Amino acid sequence: MQRVVQPEILDTLAATDPVAIANRRDLRLYNRLMGTYRWFEQKVGPSSNESNFLELGAGDGTLGLYLLRRGNLRTTTAYTGLDLISRPMNWPVSWSWLVEDLCHLSYEGIHNVLIANLILHQFSSDELSVLGEKLAASNLSTLLISEPVRKNLHIWQVYLSWLLRVHPVSLHDAKVSIQAGFRNLELAELLGLDEQEWDIHYTETFMGANRLVCRRRS
Ligand SMILES: C[S@@+](CC[C@H](N)C(=O)[O-])C[C@H]1O[C@@H](n2cnc3c(N)ncnc32)[C@H](O)[C@@H]1O
Repeated sequence: MQRVVQPEILDTLAATDPVAIANRRDLRLYNRLMGTYRWFEQKVGPSSNESNFLELGAGDGTLGLYLLRRGNLRTTTAYTGLDLISRPMNWPVSWSWLVEDLCHLSYEGIHNVLIANLILHQFSSDELSVLGEKLAASNLSTLLISEPVRKNLHIWQVYLSWLLRVHPVSLHDAKVSIQAGFRNLELAELLGLDEQEWDIHYTETFMGANRLVCRRRS
């Protein structure tokens, strides 16, 4: 399947729109089915005082709050969520939130761990290449990324999720996301991550997650 990047309906809706609320609820369901939260829990581990996290496309904050509940993070951990939508009501006061387009961020800050879940597939090859250059020049030393696998099997799985009363807009966005997803090490290649500079591992799961763990070589 060729990679095709198309707009997602969620990005055209106000955060308070009932359809957006239903879509974010369905995203939580998809993330649970994909084992996303547990995967990040395992990869983040117990965070040290030196860790300074930046989560791209943090949405309603579910992932960060899950890691806080599970004890991977504390309210004293340096954690910044970034999204086009505003700070979630229940986001810890000691954590930061940036309302910003991730393509416009300089990445020159003090963050050393990048978290991205179901967001990077929304960008074209050219945009990912520019982002990758910024990541390479940043202080980030760990990238933990989970994105859709671009495979027909997962489009059929999305059709099946209709049985779980997923909203039609969620079905649309999930299908579009899979068509814009990645195979194997494709995302690392599109970001231009240099294997001399980064230790890069990927996994693909039956439930459609293409995951990257990239650690900067010291
Ligand atoms: C598919 S949702 C995933 C949200 C969350 N990571 C999750 O798994 O529930 C993509 C998120 O990225 C945000 N987003 C889309 N384009 C963005 C951009 N250019 N910069 C920052 N955030 C963006 C959207 O507002 C949305 O919350």
